[in-house]
Amino acid sequence: GAPVEVDISKIEPGTMMTAEWRGKPVWIINRTEEMTAELAQHDGQLSDPASEVTSQQPAYCKNEGRSIKPNLAVIVGICTHLGCSPSGKLQKGGDMGDGWTGGFFCPCHGSKFDLAGRVFKGSPAPINLVVPPHKYLSENLLLIG
Ligand code: FES
Repeated sequence: GAPVEVDISKIEPGTMMTAEWRGKPVWIINRTEEMTAELAQHDGQLSDPASEVTSQQPAYCKNEGRSIKPNLAVIVGICTHLGCSPSGKLQKGGDMGDGWTGGFFCPCHGSKFDLAGRVFKGSPAPINLVVPPHKYLSENLLLIG
């Protein structure tokens, strides 16, 4: 499939949009400073906090935020369990009583991911969500693929 250009100028901090690449939903999340800071706080709850599974992100996204820019996350919205599409909206944790800090929830079998697409321990999904190859063509233009 061809790379896809996405105008990211309208994503307010704390919100996200969904693009499409190779027939898959790709989430682009504009994390606030608070959200970014939270990423470092729950490593102990994650299956692969340091993104050691190399198939799940390009080498340039093997960092805490799994991203090129600290705020912007680019994540394929397909569950690594059996391929459902987790709800493409940011969800707050805290109300499920399990210490989940919020992020994305897959309704099929209850997998939970953080705002970098990292899977929480105890989820049926075995590994982190995929970060697709991408780069920024300019301040407001993202190229996926
Ligand atoms: Fe997402 Fe099973 S497909 S939890």
